[in-house]
Amino acid sequence: MKDLISVKDLSVEQIQELLKLTDEIKRDKTRFTAALSGKTLALIFQKPSNRTRVSFEVGMYQLGGYSIYLGPNEISLGVRESISDVAKTLSRYVDGIVLRTFEHKNVTDLAKFASVPVINGLSDLTHPCQALADIYTIREKKENLKGMTLAYIGDGNNVCNSLLYACAKVGMNMNIAAPKGYEPDKHVLDEAKRMAQSGGSEINLSGKPREAVRGADVIYTDVWTSMGQEKEAKARKKAFKGFQVNKTLVNLAGKGVLVMHCLPAHRGEEIADDIMESKNSVIFDQAENRMHVQKAILIKLLS
Ligand code: CP
Ligand code: NVA
Repeated sequence: MKDLISVKDLSVEQIQELLKLTDEIKRDKTRFTAALSGKTLALIFQKPSNRTRVSFEVGMYQLGGYSIYLGPNEISLGVRESISDVAKTLSRYVDGIVLRTFEHKNVTDLAKFASVPVINGLSDLTHPCQALADIYTIREKKENLKGMTLAYIGDGNNVCNSLLYACAKVGMNMNIAAPKGYEPDKHVLDEAKRMAQSGGSEINLSGKPREAVRGADVIYTDVWTSMGQEKEAKARKKAFKGFQVNKTLVNLAGKGVLVMHCLPAHRGEEIADDIMESKNSVIFDQAENRMHVQKAILIKLLS
């Protein structure tokens, strides 16, 4: 494994290995402090970020390495110079590159031309680091993944796409409730369905949140308007009416259901304020786990 572009590229064994290494990293804070000593990570971010940027930077520091943040105005990927020239140049300086971008092809192109590992820090299509931290969190709370059911309520976006691959790979069922026109990417859905079938789980798509959450172990949601879609915000707010994760929906799922959100959240839109603060919510543990899982990813790819 040279890069981390999508969860779909990982084998079940590679995912299990990553989760196990994350356990070790989280348990023993002192063991890995020199794991990436002398290594440097470049972070090219064309979109804003709190969790991804900070957890990668702090993670790198805690592993004895160094990171360089390159915001939208610095590299100006594909505008100031071509993606291949950026990839070839940075490969002479750094040991790994994280890219947060719009078009997914930017990530695959960067990986194609870089001789160092490239990590997808979110594209319009997928968000693999998020989904890996999410299944780590579910495994931590429920002690198991196989046979669990995750109900995803809302926009069939990048986060939903990566969860589809992750759930299918680890034998989890996924019920998706999305309004018409906002379903997950057709190709991703078909691929994930095939993977789920061979792993013995099921993926269901409907427009009905109440049906989706029945019997679910996890309820997951994300913003209705993702980064780059700001102009559609008003239309989306209308289309997603009835898709809020709130008390009614959580009560339908039952007592022990975990509520998850990748953050940032728009409280009062896709998720009710009291649900974010409820005992079902593991949202901030989930945010913390981004860092532990990414440290495991960095060790696997950079050392
Ligand atoms: N969940 C997530 O990726 O958050 P940021 O956009 O703040 O990095
Ligand atoms: N779907 C959201 C996720 C943010 C972490 C977005 O792309 O803006």
